[in-house]
Amino acid sequence: MPTLAHATGATRKPVTMKIAFTSCFSATVFPQQPVWRQILALKPDALVLTGDSIYIDELTNPTHPKVMGDFEFLQFVAAKYRRQLAQPDFAALITAVPTYAIWDDHDFLWNECYEEKAIQKKTYAGLIRASRALFNAYCAHLEERATFPVNDSDARLWNANEPAPGYREVKLTKGLPSGAPVHLHLVDGRSWRVNRTLLGSAQRGEIETAMAAAPADALHLVASGSVIEAHKGDQWGNFEDLAWLRALADKYSIACLSGDIHANDFHRIPTDKGRMLYDFTASGAAIRRAIWAGTQCQNFGLLDIDATTLRGQWLRFGFPGALAPVTIDRSSWQMRP
Ligand SMILES: [Fe+2]
Repeated sequence: MPTLAHATGATRKPVTMKIAFTSCFSATVFPQQPVWRQILALKPDALVLTGDSIYIDELTNPTHPKVMGDFEFLQFVAAKYRRQLAQPDFAALITAVPTYAIWDDHDFLWNECYEEKAIQKKTYAGLIRASRALFNAYCAHLEERATFPVNDSDARLWNANEPAPGYREVKLTKGLPSGAPVHLHLVDGRSWRVNRTLLGSAQRGEIETAMAAAPADALHLVASGSVIEAHKGDQWGNFEDLAWLRALADKYSIACLSGDIHANDFHRIPTDKGRMLYDFTASGAAIRRAIWAGTQCQNFGLLDIDATTLRGQWLRFGFPGALAPVTIDRSSWQMRP
């Protein structure tokens, strides 16, 4: 029954959706992962994990995963997922908050698998099949509460034609008024990455179709492992897909949520028509700066979205870091001073 406060609106809170995002964590390197408690305390409406939920290639591995047999590889990687899912603070967070994940190089195969064109090598086909099956099971656990297979012989892990995670679109509505929709685009930046192609034409077409079908005032969040532009390393700037994304940003309000770099960051990329493409990076949830070496990271980002603004902030060890919060006007798609 409505209370008086409900009837009068006297205690009405602003209508806001809160989205936490981060990437890069290893239960092997960091069995204790306090970052998840910090995120849960903020009561987000959704959590987006932008890659490297596990590190298939870690220095403690007895052998490099690329030389493992298919079953040995599946066992090895499945154990990493089980260890992450059993991490108590992570388990508590994903139980309480709708969570979506994409993969990046370390949960797809290993660092620099792009440089060696692994997706084109028949010798890795069995490993990629296993990797897909495990990541798809991980996402089914996060999104559908499906039990992650406890047995390596589980039939769910042995589909001979296991599909790539591929592209998925999620419409986020919790906490928002109707008429100001947020569309989350979960892209697969690893399954078709070769030469100067990052997403592949089929996936790009799916994204174009989804954005064209969304309401004109929709805010589009594109979850991507790689950052858009950086001074070095993996980035959309190395691929022909950046021109495609900038052209999309001429038509739609697009903010990327990226990971990979084990640091928090923010970039504005102007389009040819004077519009903006924004890149919110939050990386290093529970890892060291160089996976095994360097300083510890407890990084994540937080978006507060209402009908008129998108506000982004970044936290380290539960506190605001050096990166200043940003506020973007949803209708003009420009930053506010
Ligand atoms: Fe990473």
